[in-house]
Amino acid sequence: MASATLVFFIFLISIHFFTLTLSQLHLQYNNCYVPNGGTFDPTGPYKRNLEQVLNTLTTDTTITSGFYNSSAGTGTNTVYARALCRPDMSSETCRDCINVTREILPTLCQNNRSAIGGYDDDKDINCMLRYADYNQFGIMEDKPYFYVNTLKLVDNQYVDEFNRTRKSLLDKLIIQAAAADSPDKYAADFAVASFGRIYGLVQCTPDLNETSCKNCLDITMTRMTDCCDTKQGGRVYTPSCNFRYALNADFFKRVTRPPKEKNHTVIIIVSVIVSVVTLVTLVGIVIFLKRKKWEEEDENILPLIKPFEELVGQITQS
Ligand SMILES: *[C@@H]1O[C@H](CO)[C@@H](O)[C@H](O)[C@H]1NC(C)=O
Ligand SMILES: *[C@@H]1O[C@H](CO)[C@@H](O)[C@H](O)[C@H]1NC(C)=O
Ligand SMILES: *[C@@H]1O[C@H](CO)[C@@H](O)[C@H](O)[C@H]1NC(C)=O
Ligand SMILES: *[C@@H]1O[C@H](CO)[C@@H](O)[C@H](O)[C@H]1NC(C)=O
Ligand SMILES: *[C@@H]1O[C@H](CO)[C@@H](O)[C@H](O)[C@H]1NC(C)=O
Repeated sequence: MASATLVFFIFLISIHFFTLTLSQLHLQYNNCYVPNGGTFDPTGPYKRNLEQVLNTLTTDTTITSGFYNSSAGTGTNTVYARALCRPDMSSETCRDCINVTREILPTLCQNNRSAIGGYDDDKDINCMLRYADYNQFGIMEDKPYFYVNTLKLVDNQYVDEFNRTRKSLLDKLIIQAAAADSPDKYAADFAVASFGRIYGLVQCTPDLNETSCKNCLDITMTRMTDCCDTKQGGRVYTPSCNFRYALNADFFKRVTRPPKEKNHTVIIIVSVIVSVVTLVTLVGIVIFLKRKKWEEEDENILPLIKPFEELVGQITQS
């Protein structure tokens, strides 16, 4: 009885611990850029509008596309905000990520009128948030850009083939994503070469038309040399589009099937019930009441036990 109760409390404490870890994470990339120049008065209307737009950005819970778009205020004090998640993120996970980002980004960027920032652990955490004093809707913006890569290099004997295969795969995906109907402006696939498979995903914000989406991705592809060259995996982000490629299928499996199931949550809940035999009724009630909350937390938090372990490369902005 005592040890069963202990197991249960350790379980609760570990959930609490991982929740803290999530909120304490730094943004993986950010830039307080000012294309229109300027800062705002921290006691003025722009600040209030910024707080309002960030608070209401994800209030529409019927959005399942992972793209959020909102504005607040009037005239020169209007603040426009938008957010984009990787296509395989569930709505809850996407909103949770934006929710954390919207707390941290204004802190990092203080009184700057424009900012962009986001997370990507290449697993279950992915979102990009930006705000500015102009309406970005439908406008293609390929700067600033951010990139990350793996340190592992492609074996020398495959470099040329790798280079060609990667380019033809991503070029094909760019055409598909650009032509795709909104809101699903992305494409994912793999190519087979003598060294194995190479997987790719390209994505535009769904407000872009075909021409703008293709332009954005074509320009972003020119960052390949800076970013990735002979690296086995890499990603480049811009405000309007992003691409990634890798030799492993992790992201591809998720993108090409519906948002992931929650089996692991069920397994955890079942094992708690089994170990707390004498508290089964009480625990059952607690689980029933908390179940929804646990599922949400679990989905976000488990991947952060080892945050960003694959992101050993550099992140550069310009
Ligand atoms: C996003 O903002 C633009 C411009 O304000 C608006 O036309 C559009 O309807 C908005 N879209 C969504 C999904 O909110
Ligand atoms: C965002 O986090 C706050 C607490 O910090 C919470 O009250 C709110 O419900 C969250 N919103 C979403 C959409 O998850
Ligand atoms: C805000 O923008 C200014 C340029 O106007 C820049 O020098 C400054 O570094 C930015 N602030 C932050 C926190 O990056
Ligand atoms: C890969 O191909 C591009 C041209 O498509 C070239 O600029 C680059 O140098 C090549 N990289 C390697 C490592 O061969
Ligand atoms: C696509 O959007 C851009 C930017 O808004 C615009 O200049 C262009 O005319 C549009 N192209 C088409 C074919 O609608």
